[in-house]
Amino acid sequence: MIADCPPGFKSYELLFQLNRIRRDTLGFLLDCAAKFGDLTYFEAGKQRAFLVNSADGVRRVLQDNHRAYNKDTIQYNSLAQITGRGLLTSDGDLWFRQRRLEQPAFSRARLNALDGVVVPTVQKMLQRWERYAASGELVDVDGEMMRVTLEIVGKALFSIDLSTQAHQLTEAVLTVLDHIVYQAQNPVRLPEIFLTPRTVRFRAALSTLDMAVYEMIANRREQADPGEDMLGMLLKARDEQTGQPMSEEQVRDEVITLLIAGHETVASALTWSWYLLAQHSRVWENLRTEVGSVLQDRLPTTADLPNLPYTAQVFSEALRLYPPAWLITRKAIEDDQIGGYPIPKGALIIISPYVIHRHPAYWENPLAFDPERFNEARGKSYPRYAYIPFGGGPRLCIGSQFAQVEATLILAMVTQHYRLELPEGSQVKVDALVTLRPHGGLAMRVIRAA
Ligand code: HEM
Repeated sequence: MIADCPPGFKSYELLFQLNRIRRDTLGFLLDCAAKFGDLTYFEAGKQRAFLVNSADGVRRVLQDNHRAYNKDTIQYNSLAQITGRGLLTSDGDLWFRQRRLEQPAFSRARLNALDGVVVPTVQKMLQRWERYAASGELVDVDGEMMRVTLEIVGKALFSIDLSTQAHQLTEAVLTVLDHIVYQAQNPVRLPEIFLTPRTVRFRAALSTLDMAVYEMIANRREQADPGEDMLGMLLKARDEQTGQPMSEEQVRDEVITLLIAGHETVASALTWSWYLLAQHSRVWENLRTEVGSVLQDRLPTTADLPNLPYTAQVFSEALRLYPPAWLITRKAIEDDQIGGYPIPKGALIIISPYVIHRHPAYWENPLAFDPERFNEARGKSYPRYAYIPFGGGPRLCIGSQFAQVEATLILAMVTQHYRLELPEGSQVKVDALVTLRPHGGLAMRVIRAA
């Protein structure tokens, strides 16, 4: 370790931690922050890595000096096996062009119209749940949230009804994501040309997703006008210099990126919201009071959102404690400095929303589920870059407002009708996969709200 290195692990020390890292990544990262402070150093052979856990450090990487970093990291390169070079995994000019192109699909006007998609889709889910409420049978809330959010993103961005395929597609998404997590956790493994049952499952799931996406594109191309939704925008786009349309593969990459990034994250956040609400009856009562007084028994619209601040705060607080995107990585492409320490070109930067969201210097009673920390009076008491469920800087999540509108409507509609309870003795373990997921799903009891 060179002299001006922050505290942390030399290569041989890190070796002893490998098991722990694999078994309990979140616990390991929390321990690093508690023991070594706001910057932890890791050495793995020639590779240098830093866990950045201060709001200033995060701001430096994501915002102030973002040009010194890119996404050429294991995390994003593995993801690119699925999403290709779509918006989430691309860099440089390609990223900039695509971001500018896709941004209008998330305009205020489009977000205001989201209720037209979210409300009927959630109504169908609530009808499905009547059976569970009547029989007392447990519902897999995680699976239900995956399904409803996939249907919503399919309809809202691509005008396509995925309801009949939703189950098959969400299974495929989980299979492909599971595989890349396995790859990351097992760097020493057979080359992919050796077909193991796992790689066979991965390839089959990826081709299920590809087939669905290519069919969607082909159907749209048959129409005289590709339309005004996200798919239409991608198909109509022409390169400013060459006048060429986007390649078939690039359209596929953008669509698959939005389908995956646009539902698995929201589903995870909602699943954890139900989990937390089930354990905090006072919060649930407050939520129910707000929803009841604003909506009574009618359906919500996006015009109601300003009157549902507590509902939005519940979601913000669930995102703090269980940020679906718990890991954000970057590669330093220039030398830089963070917190007075040199960051050499080539270093891997690790930022964990999960860890910084529990930083005791920024959050009073950090482990408590307290939605009111996001109310008007207290909501600005933390530094901007200590709360990063959607990242920050130019690479801020393009769907952050979409997710908040969607989730607030879903929370309100479910609370109007039902209360979700955890069966007695439930042990819920967090799996830190591509997003944070409850191990084995989240089985809950559906009780009709009185
Ligand atoms: C609660 C829900 C969501 C969470 C927690 C979340 C989280 C994030 C985070 C942390 C990033 C930044 C990653 C980085 O800087 O390395 C990101 C980027 C992105 N997200 Fe989200 N996201 C959510 C919902 C959505 C939705 C609804 C969509 C689309 C409909 C979406 C599409 C994307 C895309 C395309 C990017 C890449 C943006 C870029 O680099 O320009 N996300 N998301």
